[in-house]
Amino acid sequence: MLTKIKELKEKHNAIILAHYYQEPEIQDMADFVGDSLELSRKAANTDADVILFCGVHFMAETAKIVNPGKKVVIPDMDAGCSLADSAPPKLFKKWVEKHPDHVVVSYINCSAEVKALSDIICTSANAKKVIESIPKDKKILFAPDRFLGKYVMKETGRDMVLWNGSCQVHEIFSEKELVKMKMKQPKAKVLAHPECDENILMHSDFIGSTSALINYVNSSDDTEFIIGTEPGVIHQMQKQNPKKEFFPLPNQNGCACNECPHMRLNTVEKIIDTLSSLKNEINLDEQTRIKALKPLNKMLEIV
Ligand code: 13P
Ligand code: SF4
Repeated sequence: MLTKIKELKEKHNAIILAHYYQEPEIQDMADFVGDSLELSRKAANTDADVILFCGVHFMAETAKIVNPGKKVVIPDMDAGCSLADSAPPKLFKKWVEKHPDHVVVSYINCSAEVKALSDIICTSANAKKVIESIPKDKKILFAPDRFLGKYVMKETGRDMVLWNGSCQVHEIFSEKELVKMKMKQPKAKVLAHPECDENILMHSDFIGSTSALINYVNSSDDTEFIIGTEPGVIHQMQKQNPKKEFFPLPNQNGCACNECPHMRLNTVEKIIDTLSSLKNEINLDEQTRIKALKPLNKMLEIV
């Protein structure tokens, strides 16, 4: 399979970009693995002709927005995102119109149409910096993740009007299981993604994007970690730190198997199929793309 993928990549001058929530074997075969911010930068700067995006739809869409000359394909067109789905463009437009004197900040986990209606985009890696870049006298709308919004409000001391969206993976981590785990593994540091609810974040030793969590583990002298994000990151943590131990945080069903059902739709077989036929191409209305590029560029310029 790897030989076939290599042949197809050479044939089409293609690059494979993968998010940390992909299956381990996909992460291992990718040319680049990163968090949402790193992936959008990589997509903007690649000189490959084809970008095979192993992530979810809004990520592939972002790659197309920042690099329209490339063919962007995704292994499974149905790989969506509960956060992106929580902000339908029509409702979002009405919300923005209701708050005319606000700066509209959207988390990158949203559709191209929602990006096109925003003033600036952020990711979990730079949300704080993006909010801090907005003059203090400006009012702010933040969408679609209410948990990330709440966390950034706390961190920056800024008041924001929040859209009521959430990530179906991060919102169901269990505080009760976390407390039980901390009692069982008292030496373990708790690392969490800011898409988690406050009741998880308040028990955490470190909060950050997927890359920030991995970097934390790499530079820490601690040897045990409870991981409050999609367990795909544990593959990288374990690979880069074979002697350290990682405990995936269970969800409210008590199961330490809290994988993103959208991310995990991508498979090696679908990658081969997509690279063979170059199907599942992301195409955007040019007007929407140009409008969505502006707030994305604004983000890429400040951080
Ligand atoms: P980051 O890649 O910014 O850590 O976000 C995680 C996520 O949920 C992506 O969908
Ligand atoms: Fe969306 Fe959550 Fe899956 Fe990320 S983990 S793609 S935010 S549903």
